[in-house]
Parts: sequence; C-alpha cells; structure tokens
Amino acid sequence: MANIAVIGTGYVGLTTGAYLAHLGHSVVCADVVVDKVAALQRGEVPILEDGLAELVRAGIDGGRLGFVVGEARAVEEAEAEFIFLCVPTPQGDDGSADLSYIESAARAIGPVVRPESVVINKSTVPVGSTLVVERALRRGDVAVVSNPEFLREGSAVHDCLHPDRIVIGSEDQAAAIRVASLFSEIKAPVIVTDPASAETIKYASNAFLATKISFVNAIANLCEAVGADVRDVVVGMGYDHRIGFEYLKPGPGFGGSCFPKDSRALVRIAEDNGYDFSLLKGVIEVNEEQFERMAAKVIRLAGGSVEGKTVAVWGLTFKARTDDTRRSPSLEVIDRLLRRGAKVKAYDPAAHEVIEGVERTGDPYGACEGASVLVVLTEWDELRWVDFEKVAGVMAEPRIVDTRNLLDPAAVRRRGFLYEGLGRP
Ligand code: UDX
Repeated sequence: MANIAVIGTGYVGLTTGAYLAHLGHSVVCADVVVDKVAALQRGEVPILEDGLAELVRAGIDGGRLGFVVGEARAVEEAEAEFIFLCVPTPQGDDGSADLSYIESAARAIGPVVRPESVVINKSTVPVGSTLVVERALRRGDVAVVSNPEFLREGSAVHDCLHPDRIVIGSEDQAAAIRVASLFSEIKAPVIVTDPASAETIKYASNAFLATKISFVNAIANLCEAVGADVRDVVVGMGYDHRIGFEYLKPGPGFGGSCFPKDSRALVRIAEDNGYDFSLLKGVIEVNEEQFERMAAKVIRLAGGSVEGKTVAVWGLTFKARTDDTRRSPSLEVIDRLLRRGAKVKAYDPAAHEVIEGVERTGDPYGACEGASVLVVLTEWDELRWVDFEKVAGVMAEPRIVDTRNLLDPAAVRRRGFLYEGLGRP
C-alpha cells in the first residue's frame, strides 16, 4: 500500500482520494479553501455524489484519509510517494485550457516532493502538458505521468470502482508500472502509452461522446421534420453493436464541466497544430443551436411570445443526480427566455446556485403557478411522479415542453395538456 497526496478536492480529486483510501492506500488530500477542508475533516461532503460521503467517512474512520490546507503540506504529511494533481483547468478566453492552477500546484510541491516519487496528472490538460508540469516542478528525479479520469458526476464512485479502462501515459515505463500497481485491485484493461497519447485519449473520448449527443439531437430535429419518433429510431440504431445505445438520448444539448470545455479545447489544440477540426466545430454548433431550438419551442407553445409571461422550469442542473449547474443547458435556455422578456420560476431538487432573474420554488407545483408554459430541462426521475391534475390546476395554460422526453405524453395529454417532446410526434 502506498502513501499518496491528492491536490484538489473537486469532483475528481475528492472521489480519487476517497477511492484510493478505499483501496487501502494512505491518502492526504489538499485544497486551498479553508472552510471546505474543515468540513471535509468532519466528514461533510460538499457535493451531491452517490456513495461518496460513505467512502469519505470510512476513509477518515479507518485513519487512511485526511484533509489539509495547502499542496506542500499534503505532500509532507502524507510522506507521499505518489502525488495526484486534480485541480481545475478552466476554459481561457480563447477556448484553450487555462493551466495556471496546475502550474501553481506543481510549483508549490516542487521543493517538497521526495526523490523518486511520481506526480500523476488527472486534470484534463492539452496535449503536451506533461512537459508543463515537469517544467513547473523543476525536479529531474521525479517522474510525471498522465492518468486521465473518465468519471461522470453523479456516478463518480461507481465509475472509479468499475472503470472501462485505466490509461497511463508516461515516457518512464517503471513509473507507469508503479502507478498501475496502485489500481491492481481494479479489474479493467490498463493502457500504457506515451503522455501525448494519454492526453489525446481523454479529449477524443469526451469529443466522441459529445459528437454522439449532437448527432442524436440533429436526428431528433430531423424526426420532427419528417414525422418520425426519435425514441424508436434510437432503439433501431442501438441494436447495431457498432453503434450501441449509450449517449444517444436526445435532449436540450450537452452541458457540464467537461463536454463544452473539452470539445472547444480540442478544436483549439487542433488549430494550434495546423488541423482544422471542422467535424467537432459542427458538434459544438449543433449544441448551441439546440439551446436556441428549445427556447423557440417554448416561445411557439406560448403562442409566439413569452414577453411578460411566466415560464415554469423544472430542472436547473446539467443532468439529473448531480447538484452541478456549470454550463447547464437549462441555464442556457433560461437565459434565452429571459432575454425575450419571460418571467422564469424554477424548481430543482438539488441545485444550490442562485440564478439572477430566476425565482426558485421549493416544489414543482410552486414553479407552475400562473405559468403559460412548463419546460422540463433536467431528467429528474421525481418529476415523472408529479400530480399533473394539480399542475394543470395552477397553470395559466396547461402546456408542456419536455426537452428530455421524460414524461408520458399520453398521460399528460389525457389531463388536458398541450404537450411537445423532442423528436417525437
Ligand atoms: C463527462 C464524461 O461522461 C466523463 O467520462 C468525463 O470524465 C467528464 O465528462 P459528466 O460531465 O459528468 O461526464 O456528464 P455526462 O453524464 O457524460 O453528461 C454530459 C452532458 O451530456 C449532460 O448535459 C447530459 O445531460 C448530456 N447527455 C448525456 C445527453 O444529452 N444525452 C445522452 O445520451 C448523454
């Protein structure tokens, strides 16, 4: 079992730390936010993530998981042989990834890392960034390895424990093998490659999944034009093993902290290296169009204008089972409705973020009071089980736009609703 420091306690860092402790390693996690570290020391997990609080609690109780303020302190307290960098790489103004957090983390730990230890980069970084970390570390005796993370928010713990693959990128075979041995209990194929290929695998995987989503959204739009039902089309496609069923759910567009940022970053990486990635540009364009199409659907159902009308919104997070609203399609659609003069009342079971111009309600009915249209923007399961008689009773007009095809059209139409889903008659 190894001594490990994890730098950054966001979705990736916290899950990685808790999961490495669960595998039996001794882990110290670092963050720069003092209050967050204090809460984590008490076992309080600040994000909605299935099974994570239990894993953190078990790690603390077992004496294998601790939290401190400061990168260098984590490395020293852990007596770390392995240091995982899990800091954010936000999008810079020009679409490229901003590496300042990762560089400053590497600079901070440089003087204190033990000789022969391994620094592992889990943050999604542009191809070639292993070199950036090496330069910031200024330690010739420390190997830098890329180990991209593929976890999804909401099922992060499950995805860590049951990954489809483990990717390790390193010029140093011995370091790669040492990193692989940390995960020896996990049954998954391990791909050892060079750092540039490991970094490309992460971007290519996210970009491919984003492509599937934009593709199916375009097909849903086509279905509306030709009178086909996208759900049957996807079932018919999915049985072809070469296509599969995953990431073919049409919706209001993809969002979250990864797909929008990483697809733009990959276009930029390609551009910087002399390749015009027009396919991926199209994927991003279809996604932007989708936000506008969803707003247009709402406006159409409201009778041509939402000016001065109340629109009820169900769902603010970028998908269900997370409390994260970063780059949420819901906020994109809301923004477009607000700009057209709508009054927006919203219900979401998990989102904490205060959204300017949006009135929040504690239940789904409150959002619908006096509303001319209800728009479903996140696929929260509980929204299927709402009393639609009651909803119809409080709305000004019983009209629903269901951008996730979450509801049963026949059931809501029976209750007098004008219902429009996505890509279905
Ligand atoms: C994603 C990748 O799945 C993960 O491997 C990577 O490490 C980080 O980015 P995440 O951002 O948590 O994970 O979200 P994901 O569940 O993949 O969904 C992203 C967006 O696509 C959401 O807005 C979701 O609603 C949308 N989506 C997903 C669809 O519209 N249709 C689908 O079929 C699947």
